[in-house]
Amino acid sequence: MNATGRFRIAAIPADGVGQEVVAAGRQVLDALAAASAGAFAFDWREFDWGCDYYARTGRMMAADGLEVLKDFDAIYFGAVGWPGVPDHVSLWGLRLAICQNFDQWANVRPVRFLPGVRSPLRKADDTGLDWVVVRENSEGEYVGMGGRNFAGRGPGGEIAVQSALFTEVGCERIMRFAFDLARTRGRRKVSSVTKSNAQQYGMVLWDEVFARVARDYPDVETESVLVDAMSAKFVLRPEDLSVVVASNLHADILSDLGSALAGSLGLAASANLNPERRFPSMFEPVHGSAPDIAGRGLANPIGAVGSAALMLGHLGLPEQAARLDAAIEATTAAGILTRDLGGTATTEDVTKALIDALHA
Ligand SMILES: NC(=O)c1ccc[n+]([C@@H]2O[C@H](COP(=O)([O-])OP(=O)(O)OC[C@H]3O[C@@H](n4cnc5c(N)ncnc54)[C@H](O)[C@@H]3O)[C@@H](O)[C@H]2O)c1
Repeated sequence: MNATGRFRIAAIPADGVGQEVVAAGRQVLDALAAASAGAFAFDWREFDWGCDYYARTGRMMAADGLEVLKDFDAIYFGAVGWPGVPDHVSLWGLRLAICQNFDQWANVRPVRFLPGVRSPLRKADDTGLDWVVVRENSEGEYVGMGGRNFAGRGPGGEIAVQSALFTEVGCERIMRFAFDLARTRGRRKVSSVTKSNAQQYGMVLWDEVFARVARDYPDVETESVLVDAMSAKFVLRPEDLSVVVASNLHADILSDLGSALAGSLGLAASANLNPERRFPSMFEPVHGSAPDIAGRGLANPIGAVGSAALMLGHLGLPEQAARLDAAIEATTAAGILTRDLGGTATTEDVTKALIDALHA
């Protein structure tokens, strides 16, 4: 932020519903800023990177894209991926290129149960449920190490190796982050997700670091749960969860399960943080580009708006973040729901309701 309270935000809507939900999020954020009587404002710069850009240029982002992004206060991202461009090309060319080069090693994904939204979980009717998935975002299964067809084997004989990398430093920093987060919550508990029964190197290191870090936080309850058992626990005993720390792949899967349990993938928010603030952090809904509904005004903007609230918190505006979260709750409680939640509201209807709720 500069001296006049202006935040420089890079918007990268990218593909499919990313375009619609980032536009919605920007409208809501601008409305919030307009109501602040000049206390803060956003200077947006939008980048047209994504699969269309790739079709035109052969690149997912400009060659100097990281250099340009580096000077922003934050990045507000939509979703990447569109039929015609292989998903691994689009993901690695844009989203992962940003996350990895900007060392956004902590990915925070709250699972929020909102009023007025029906959960497929019966328990949600009478139990307060609320947990956060903390995802290791820089290594693990998505480190991009491996190769194909090493010996030049022909069709039908090809081989591929995809390795997971676990470092003691990487495990320790994400676990300390999870424990610190647990200390800010009503229930001080960290659940570690593992698979050390089958994966005897990386996941055993993960477990050992977890046990060591836990000793520094005697006030925080802990448990270590196999990923298969944790997926069952999300459904059967979600009231036992507060902070769930997991590797890149495990957390990716579990956070989609969490948001589906909360009602829809369209609700889930996420923050890709560089906690040291050496680089800008990036805020994006958990969902993808949803080609099946894109361009029809059906996308639920709440995941993107919740991500904007996480961005406000990161930018040092916690009261404004709380206002945005309250506007989300007021909107769902009033039954203004998109089709994924069983409603009939459009993206625009929900956006307008969110803005009205800010002014209420
Ligand atoms: N972070 C990202 O950029 C990211 C994440 C996941 C998938 N992807 C990419 O997105 C593309 C589609 O992937 P997918 O279909 O597996 O996942 P997806 O998240 O795009 O869609 C899964 C389902 O959820 C629904 N959905 C998603 N967002 C919604 C919203 N805001 N409102 C209402 N419904 C919503 C979709 O209609 C679809 O039925 C692929 O190219 C994939 O690689 C990108």
